[in-house]
Amino acid sequence: MYKLETIISLAKRRGFIFQSSEIYGGLNGCWDFGPLGVEMLRNLKEEWWRAMTYRDDIEGVDASILMHPRTWEASGHVSQFSDPMIDNKTSKARYRADNLIEEHIERLRKKNKTIQADELENKLNDVVELTDYFNLIIEYEIPDPVSGTKDWTEVRNFNLMFKTFVGPVEDNGSVVYLRPESAQGIFVNFNNVLTTSRQKIPFGIAQIGKAFRNEINTKNFLFRTREFEQMEMQYFVKPGNEKDWYEYWKEQRWNWYLGLGMNPEKMKFKVHEKLAHYANMAVDIEYLFPFGWGEIEGIHSRTDFDLRNHQEFSGKKMEYVDTVNNERYIPYVIETSGGVTRSLMAFLCDAYNEEDAPTESGAMEKRTVLKLHKRIAPLTVAVFPLVNKDGMPELAENIYKELHKKFKAQYDTSGAVGRRYRRQDEIGTPFCVTVDGQSLEDNTVTIRERDTMLQDRVNISQLESYINERIGQ
Ligand code: GAP
Repeated sequence: MYKLETIISLAKRRGFIFQSSEIYGGLNGCWDFGPLGVEMLRNLKEEWWRAMTYRDDIEGVDASILMHPRTWEASGHVSQFSDPMIDNKTSKARYRADNLIEEHIERLRKKNKTIQADELENKLNDVVELTDYFNLIIEYEIPDPVSGTKDWTEVRNFNLMFKTFVGPVEDNGSVVYLRPESAQGIFVNFNNVLTTSRQKIPFGIAQIGKAFRNEINTKNFLFRTREFEQMEMQYFVKPGNEKDWYEYWKEQRWNWYLGLGMNPEKMKFKVHEKLAHYANMAVDIEYLFPFGWGEIEGIHSRTDFDLRNHQEFSGKKMEYVDTVNNERYIPYVIETSGGVTRSLMAFLCDAYNEEDAPTESGAMEKRTVLKLHKRIAPLTVAVFPLVNKDGMPELAENIYKELHKKFKAQYDTSGAVGRRYRRQDEIGTPFCVTVDGQSLEDNTVTIRERDTMLQDRVNISQLESYINERIGQ
């Protein structure tokens, strides 16, 4: 298992991911995708979009980020989308009360105070009210990790939605929120999609888009950020059928990650014991990151919670009319909700490898290689002349220009060819084409595969189909 710092460092050095507004010292919880990162991000979204919407029963939408503020009252986010926060009066540091207690349990365990740790853990699991957190912090004399003092404020709920204003007047009447999930853009469009697409239940609506949460503890690179992207799909089913569809979507979504090469030994399902306010069944797909297990996608059975509430708050019917069976009902919903940015990080961690590899001279050296699935790797092919003379650069550049019309490609002439292979391995490029002396005689080139490092000799005219076959297009 490699350290997260190693992956962050590669991501920055090779242009995958930069800190947001780095020249000003950065903005916590926000990241920018560089030239390679954006390619990988787009590839991942394309894979999801194809898997989820290139089928008969799912339609796509792209809803606005700013929505009518009543949306968030109906969804429960205004009243319930909050974390319990506590401030230390000396350090002025703010903490999530549950995290503060959890970290204290960890410290007790490290000091072998197992009985006390177990007792506190049990009490934490039984917390009902905000004051329960406060009482535990006082009872166990939990200190501020920064100042070491125990002068705490009471525990308050802190809503995670970012607020802003529409129009020129900054008053209560003009408050809107940056959406904390893309799902509500789907629910409010339920009738629009139903009538325009003429879908029949069961059917789904899919969307990829940004979401924003004023997370208190942003941490672990792309794992918990304040601005991130989600890929969500709401599947509308007849009430009573939700269990079968829940199982179906669990399997589909698990297989999507497998299909893109994720290591199943680093994946697991984690069933929710504490359910979100809208769910009657929920499970996470978790990935084993360098810092431990973390959710990459949730599959939730949301009942008719959202549509029913939108019906009540908007006064518009959110029903499905089944003309065949002469029934009308508010559909139940199975949601698949993945983070694009979080799963990109999981794929990066999963692909990272350091291994011994032979150099051109036969000696062994360490190579860093991103074993990314061929369809999500930022570049598909790199083209090199073996040496920069004898007409090889001209031919190589022509091949590059042709391939670049079909695939994301790179042309590289600098340094020994072995170095160039290593540079491409490190960013996960699946194929490297090299023009050598023989190419000028018989129009063939070598094409090297990243993981096996084996080379084939292929006619230049066959390159496109050779690559297409191997990336499954
Ligand atoms: N519509 C349901 C929903 O939003 P969620 O479990 O809160 O459910 C779904 O979020 C997914 O969105 C998570 O599995 C994760 O991949 C991603 N996600 C949530 N909060 C995030 C954050 N602060 N930073 C990055 N990704 C996040």
